Amino acid sequence: MRIAVFYATREGQTARIAEHIAHELQTSNVQVDVFDVKDMGRPVDWASYHAACVAASVHLGRHEPEMITFVKQNRPELERLSAMFLSVSLSEAGAEDPAAPPERRQKAAADVAGLIETFVKETGWRSHHVLPVAGALTYSRYNFIIRFVMKRIARANGAPTDTSRDYELTDWTTLDRFVRDRLLLTVAS
Ligand SMILES: Cc1cc2nc3c(=O)[nH]c(=O)nc-3n(C[C@H](O)[C@H](O)[C@H](O)COP(=O)(O)O)c2cc1C
Repeated sequence: MRIAVFYATREGQTARIAEHIAHELQTSNVQVDVFDVKDMGRPVDWASYHAACVAASVHLGRHEPEMITFVKQNRPELERLSAMFLSVSLSEAGAEDPAAPPERRQKAAADVAGLIETFVKETGWRSHHVLPVAGALTYSRYNFIIRFVMKRIARANGAPTDTSRDYELTDWTTLDRFVRDRLLLTVAS
């Protein structure tokens, strides 16, 4: 069994998520190839895969443009493999935050749904298996202006605002469940 994991990232969290998925699959004796769609390096041998997973982060209300291009170019193959889509964002962290008031969580969940719908419109691809994933606040990687803006966004959304450190908000347990209950089941069936 062989699975392809495609990702697009700006600050690195989605790359970590892709590598984590690959590691979990490999421990279950599944062969995995991980591709950064910004720098493919090698052609994709689509016929060799039994399943695929696509992961992209969100910046300024859109998923990474290189992932939009990749999906548009490879939509038939992704549909044939019933590829799964992981949408990585800060909004999802807000939707999952147990300390947030219900209305703020609902607003964040609606934002996530809107981001995914925009991606569907832009690519023409609607995955049957979509998993929104909370990303990270990597203050150390932002320039002065971005750090300032992200701190304000974080404050408005109840996210951490101490810019002297980074915050990984990804729920790895949910991700492992996704690998076990979705990806592994797909290749087993
Ligand atoms: C400049 C900037 C803009 C962002 N815009 C959004 C946004 O519009 N919606 C959102 O939910 N998250 C937004 N985020 C949060 C990112 O989606 C989050 O940090 C994610 O983990 C980034 O993933 P990456 O490290 O794989 O690029 C933004 C982050 C930055 C730095």
